[in-house]
Amino acid sequence: MPGENLILSIRNLNVVYWARRGWVKAVRNVSLDIYRGEVLGLVGESGSGKTTLALTVMKLLPTNAKILSGSILYYGLGKAVDLAKLSEKEIRKYRWKEIALAFQGAMNAFNPVMRIKDHFIETAKAHLGHVDEEEVLKEARELLKLVLLEPDRVLRSFPHQLSGGMKQRTLLALALLLRPKLIILDEPTSALDVVSQKVILETLRNIKREFSTTMILITHDLSIAAELTDRVAIMYAGKIMEVGGVEDIFYDPMHPYTRGLLKAVPVLKGTKEVESIPGSPPDLIDLPPGCAFHPRCPYAMERCRREDPPLVEVKPGRFVACWLYTKR
Ligand SMILES: Nc1ncnc2c1ncn2[C@@H]1O[C@H](COP(=O)(O)OP(=O)(O)OP(=O)(O)O)[C@@H](O)[C@H]1O
Ligand SMILES: [Mg+2]
Repeated sequence: MPGENLILSIRNLNVVYWARRGWVKAVRNVSLDIYRGEVLGLVGESGSGKTTLALTVMKLLPTNAKILSGSILYYGLGKAVDLAKLSEKEIRKYRWKEIALAFQGAMNAFNPVMRIKDHFIETAKAHLGHVDEEEVLKEARELLKLVLLEPDRVLRSFPHQLSGGMKQRTLLALALLLRPKLIILDEPTSALDVVSQKVILETLRNIKREFSTTMILITHDLSIAAELTDRVAIMYAGKIMEVGGVEDIFYDPMHPYTRGLLKAVPVLKGTKEVESIPGSPPDLIDLPPGCAFHPRCPYAMERCRREDPPLVEVKPGRFVACWLYTKR
């Protein structure tokens, strides 16, 4: 894909958390490109660093976190801006207006004593200064329709009057209010029942169709990634293990970790027997030498125990970090 279609380009990003036992290496040398208009799935087991990566892009990391190195180039406004180097004051120009994040569990982000309509008005005011409230509500109604909610009823409601799925969709509408070019959705369907999950997926499809908003969809659920994404990046122990088109990832997984993950998805396998990957993810404070996946990998070779394989483009658009495919 041509370079001018890039909206975000993450390079050699390393992020750690300081914990009592030592440094948690939550994001390890991540390089990832996101193209305009695409839905990129970021998939990995719990604790693989997905949320940390999202928080790093938004500069919303907690105080015990540190960006050790790397860059996050944002191209939404023409020339490249390195988000990793912006001050808190500068990044505010980008949050919500350029890049929005719909958090994991952000349903608690609503102010319980404020009606939904005031959440829309306040969000607009906070970022645009003075606003015409009627205009904002008109826009809010359109967006609520897009996420398959009854606009007037929702706008009148207090947060507690909405179900979890409705709150999640309201949050999506709110995140779209300022028409961000990139929206990061962190586990938008987790903690929801199956029906609400389906509705969320449908609304995401609507958003993709209507606004062609670029999306990063974070999920540990491969079947959700399969339904919605154009490309998928597989993350393990803070590192990107494989990137490719969604069909390639599902029909021709290359990295042994990706293959293991796919075997654990009942719908995709078409049977009820799922094989989970033996063993457990490594301790991010005390990582094994070499490839972080080698202790669980059925193909591990001597080299895997010594050297961490780089993420390499093995064919056009297909990146794998595995010595099975990389000779150098
Ligand atoms: N505030 C924090 N302080 C210390 N360690 C943290 C903190 N937040 C996350 N971590 C650790 O960083 C690693 C990556 O966590 P992260 O939340 O990014 O993973 P995730 O892929 O989003 O997981 P999940 O699927 O459970 O949401 C984990 O080992 C986690 O325990
Ligand atoms: Mg997370």
